Amino acid sequence: MRVLTGIQSSGALHIGNYFGAIKPMLELQESSDLFIFIANYHALTSLKDSKALKQNTLEAAKIFLSLGIDPQKSTFWLQSDVKEVLELYWILSAYTPMGLLERAHSYKDKVAKGIPANHALFSYPVLMAADILLYDIDTVPVGKDQIQHIEIARDIAQKFNNDHGEIFKLPQFKVDESVATVPGTNGEKMSKSYGNTIDLFTTQKRLKKQIGKIVTDSTPLEEPKEYEGCNLYKICELFMDEDELKNLRQRYKNGGEGYGHFKADLSSKIWDYFEEAREKKAYFDEHEDEVMDILSYGAKKAKKIASKKIETIRKCVGILE
Ligand code: ADP
Ligand code: TRP
Repeated sequence: MRVLTGIQSSGALHIGNYFGAIKPMLELQESSDLFIFIANYHALTSLKDSKALKQNTLEAAKIFLSLGIDPQKSTFWLQSDVKEVLELYWILSAYTPMGLLERAHSYKDKVAKGIPANHALFSYPVLMAADILLYDIDTVPVGKDQIQHIEIARDIAQKFNNDHGEIFKLPQFKVDESVATVPGTNGEKMSKSYGNTIDLFTTQKRLKKQIGKIVTDSTPLEEPKEYEGCNLYKICELFMDEDELKNLRQRYKNGGEGYGHFKADLSSKIWDYFEEAREKKAYFDEHEDEVMDILSYGAKKAKKIASKKIETIRKCVGILE
């Protein structure tokens, strides 16, 4: 089964991103034919600073490689390295009714947030459809906010197929309901826009500071504490195994220790959990050429499929070659 996911590099990642999106993706890498690319053309819709776009793109590649994307197991590339996607984007545009895009809520949401209403932002779903349809993808794992984009890709594919036969595979979206929402330090959903994150690649000092911000109740140090519903305990659950949790629950019940002690343990647990990724990241920071080589190896693999597919499509619509 071919599964595809696009990453928009949005700077610092937090443990919510990791458990909600990255870890499930690493599991998919083991069980399916994973296609994963960095959507730098899409990023251009909201980022107009060339230096920042370049830097974010490279940073995203390093981060995903550090966290375990394996270029041998998966096809991992940069969207802009396979230009066929732009040709398909244009051809698909001719099969996209205006009404379909006018109904897209993500466009309206972004404009409401103050992102300038440019044409690329409006036609964003068509480029996303091209990303998917170019590679005959079966399934696209998405968060709820992206479901409509996959439905749009299906609608466009169907319109094209109505005219030209079964050229495009209709992609399915998959929302992983089993992935729980990771709470932030204040108990709300962890999100970079709420300033309540625990970040993945940070210094030990900053990590301790972020964990220090986890809100707990005011039970005095010597008294027994309630772990059920405790925000700190919920975050510990992500990093500790059953034995460690059992021990922690006992410590909550015993009293005689404050939340500060539990936080210190959690802090070193998280630090160790991402140690390997941090080391790999430091390596890639020193060896950016290697990152570029990995991306171009992935682009070659992706291009092989894309160039064949685009030939078929050119023929369908009558582009003279
Ligand atoms: P943010 O809310 O910090 O801006 P994004 O919207 O960029 O995060 O999310 C990127 C991915 O990480 C999405 O797939 C999203 O579902 C997942 N994600 C983000 N925050 C959480 C969270 N608190 N718990 C679980 N998954 C999350
Ligand atoms: N729009 C996606 C996001 O913001 C990124 C993306 C671009 C994508 N093209 C894609 C995701 C194709 C899945 C498939 O997260």
